[in-house]
Amino acid sequence: MGSKICIFLTLCGIILSVVHSNTGKLIKADEDLPTVYEYFRNASSNVALVAEADGFKLNGKKIKIISGAIHYFRVHPDLWRDRLKKLRAMGANTVETYVSWNLHEPKMGEFDFGNGTGDYSMFTDIRRYIQIAQEEDLLVLFRPGPYICTEFEFGGFPSWLQRDPDMKVRTNYQPYLDRVKIFFDALMAQVDDLLWTRGGPIIAIQIENEYGFFNNKSQEYLQFILDFFLNLGYANETLFFTSDGVGSGQWNLTWTFKTANFGGDVDHNFGTLREQQPDKPLMAMEYYPGWFDHWFEKHQVRAPGAFVDTLDGILGKYDGNVNLYMFHGGTNFGFLAGANAWHEVKHYDPDVTSYDYDATLSEAGDYTTKYYLGKALFELYQEPQIKRTELIPESAGPVKDFGTILIDSELQPTGFQEDNYWINSYAI
Ligand SMILES: *[C@@H]1O[C@H](CO)[C@@H](O)[C@H](O)[C@H]1NC(C)=O
Ligand SMILES: *[C@@H]1O[C@H](CO)[C@@H](O)[C@H](O)[C@H]1NC(C)=O
Ligand SMILES: *[C@@H]1O[C@H](CO)[C@@H](O)[C@H](O)[C@H]1NC(C)=O
Ligand SMILES: *[C@@H]1O[C@H](CO)[C@@H](O)[C@H](O)[C@H]1NC(C)=O
Ligand SMILES: *[C@@H]1O[C@H](CO)[C@@H](O)[C@H](O)[C@H]1NC(C)=O
Repeated sequence: MGSKICIFLTLCGIILSVVHSNTGKLIKADEDLPTVYEYFRNASSNVALVAEADGFKLNGKKIKIISGAIHYFRVHPDLWRDRLKKLRAMGANTVETYVSWNLHEPKMGEFDFGNGTGDYSMFTDIRRYIQIAQEEDLLVLFRPGPYICTEFEFGGFPSWLQRDPDMKVRTNYQPYLDRVKIFFDALMAQVDDLLWTRGGPIIAIQIENEYGFFNNKSQEYLQFILDFFLNLGYANETLFFTSDGVGSGQWNLTWTFKTANFGGDVDHNFGTLREQQPDKPLMAMEYYPGWFDHWFEKHQVRAPGAFVDTLDGILGKYDGNVNLYMFHGGTNFGFLAGANAWHEVKHYDPDVTSYDYDATLSEAGDYTTKYYLGKALFELYQEPQIKRTELIPESAGPVKDFGTILIDSELQPTGFQEDNYWINSYAI
């Protein structure tokens, strides 16, 4: 393949040209090295992931978690395997995904795990997605929320929750907790046997999501989420973790393994994390290669040089672990893009349809400069050394230019509810 010009545009009408020139070379698979599963699987014992002073251990063996985020609900299911192969070929051993409650329970009490009749049903076979990850030699970090933020509609909550005029999501409000339990029961029935200890790829489960940023925190609520999984008998079957900005106030609330979310200044972020949690491995659960876009703002980009410097600090200087958020962002199909609502200055910032994120793999599935730079670092710092896999071709189909869309008027949101800022304080 020679160089090619891929043009895409955000719906804001900003056109970006990205030149790719380095897609021709296939890296030969290294036959002498084991796959992830050959290295860690043991027919007679499948010990869960643990976080020890000298690093993570999976089945008793040291592992540096090198992960990338791909959300199954932002990628057409026909392309799941393609994207996962590209992640594995970069040198990652793990994929991270959130779970979107709103797609799995579109109507109260009606579940969709790929067996529904709605427009989004095909996106919801989460069991299949996780199985494909395993087939592609990847472990899985599982982030079921129930709140996921992720610039997704209502932070992943189903809109019908708000039919209860007294609804207080992310709190101890009993009718909310009841719905969480009903959904989690249905969800975990899909993936219960996919825990690492039971033969599957799921090595760790996140409790809630950046709860430290929430304005109305309650330890009892976090405990409720953790207890749900403990009641399933998962105490020794997985590693539980939280993920937060280090300054967000989460720290006193947690008893699970703590990870940090950041896009730069590794000294500050890992330094603070180490103070909060000495004698544990360091993990950036969300390391941002790029960022998301709001309508009417410039497309966000992060320079490859800065990306690789911080990644080098995470993996090298601090001997840490990483999840690239996003490895591949994908698309907010339909009207599922979220928004930020700020209560300090009342305004509403909706996110665009593209979730390209200026990530390591573009929205179209093409390799970027950051992909190749990250790949070199992953090869350098990986532990253990794993068998390399081949770089497959870039976009699976033609990349189309849909032209420029002129937006000449804007609908002003009304009906901000003061007491809903607690719910909507981040992406809604
Ligand atoms: C499997 O795990 C058991 C218990 O940790 C260990 O004794 C045995 O050597 C392992 N087998 C292999 C093939 O690694
Ligand atoms: C899909 O499967 C789940 C789990 O078996 C079930 O609870 C749900 O009712 C099914 N949904 C439909 C629409 O059949
Ligand atoms: C804050 O959370 C508590 C329970 O955890 C709830 O009773 C209260 O209504 C919440 N406040 C708001 C403004 O949501
Ligand atoms: C988990 O493992 C510890 C020690 O290995 C043990 O004491 C405890 O009973 C186990 N808990 C469960 C729920 O199996
Ligand atoms: C939480 O911990 C920080 C430092 O670790 C401390 O300054 C703060 O007072 C604590 N907050 C509460 C509510 O305990």
